[in-house]
Amino acid sequence: MPAIPATMTAIAVPTPGGPEALTPVESPVPVPGPGRLLIKVAAAGVNRPDALQRQGRYTLPPNASPLPGLEAAGEVVAVGPGVTRFGVGAMVTALLNGGGYAEFALVEEGAALPVPAGLPLAEAAAIPETFFTVWHNVFQRGGLKAGETLLVHGGSSGIGTTAILLGKAFGATVVVTAGSPDKCAACMKLGADHAVDYRAEDFVAAVSRITEGKGADLILDMVGGAYVGRNMEAVAFDGRIVQIAFLEGGEVPVNLGKLMLKRLTWTGSMLRPRTNAFKAALRAEIEAKVWPLVTAGRVRPVMDRTFPLKDAAAAHRRMESGELIGKMVLIP
Ligand SMILES: NC(=O)c1ccc[n+]([C@@H]2O[C@H](COP(=O)([O-])OP(=O)(O)OC[C@H]3O[C@@H](n4cnc5c(N)ncnc54)[C@H](OP(=O)(O)O)[C@@H]3O)[C@@H](O)[C@H]2O)c1
Repeated sequence: MPAIPATMTAIAVPTPGGPEALTPVESPVPVPGPGRLLIKVAAAGVNRPDALQRQGRYTLPPNASPLPGLEAAGEVVAVGPGVTRFGVGAMVTALLNGGGYAEFALVEEGAALPVPAGLPLAEAAAIPETFFTVWHNVFQRGGLKAGETLLVHGGSSGIGTTAILLGKAFGATVVVTAGSPDKCAACMKLGADHAVDYRAEDFVAAVSRITEGKGADLILDMVGGAYVGRNMEAVAFDGRIVQIAFLEGGEVPVNLGKLMLKRLTWTGSMLRPRTNAFKAALRAEIEAKVWPLVTAGRVRPVMDRTFPLKDAAAAHRRMESGELIGKMVLIP
């Protein structure tokens, strides 16, 4: 078992700002309280919400670690009172309440999943944030069913690639939008049925053509802004639109007549402020329904690049360059 030192290297944000705000610091190794595990981080996932936190645009929920990092995989090195599912030496990957950008991280036992044999820890670390988000928003809120058409905006993003994998694994026709021919090709390689380069083609017209005028049954949207109205054009009657972000603006005019005429359901959610009990229930459903596919190697996260932990700023620069396809992880 790895020795537990008193302090560790972590990446903090002393002053919000650009990627250079991510600063390596010496920080105390946390001690696991009731229901918590301490893991020695083997890899930590990088996600767009980390950039919002770095910029000071993300209000931290109470009890969250002030350090960035929403997911990590590694070996359990200590357990708090009342932990039953994992012991010291277990390999887990978990959704975190922050703190992944570090050599050690605290994990709520309920938000941890066992790492299947043969799955590299770097890949395991790239799973929780997007799988929890996609499972909740596409399947639980959006109610995606086999045979339906799912439209995913930002198809080459961490969230988008996961939505392609899970949408296909559960029998949907998956249409994506992405901002370049290369990104569209990557989405098709992953299994998307159609990829629309939105800079070259109007996605509303493309979805209408692909669905022979019916529209998409479900739209997963992270863009907002002008896409709000266009989604209402591209969605089918009785369709659903799920909002997980609004990269192009969150305050927009809405055509309520269209919403009523097409009998639409428009919903959205944020994963991070949800309770530990909610995250544990979501984890249990993912473990039952999705983990068998991960264990069998049928679903694997799409990996972009890895960076040393101390180069977290370089990972964020890449995320903001627009070149990213899939997921990046940091290696302590
Ligand atoms: N609600 C939740 O619970 C939840 C949880 C996790 C993540 N999220 C959100 O989901 C989104 C995707 O997360 P991620 O980690 O997968 O991000 P990511 O890999 O960095 O991808 C962001 C994608 O958004 C597209 N995009 C469209 N308009 C953009 C703009 N104005 N600026 C930047 N990108 C733009 C880009 O695709 P193109 O180049 O093809 O345009 C890019 O692929 C983020 O906004 C994140 O905050 C929400």
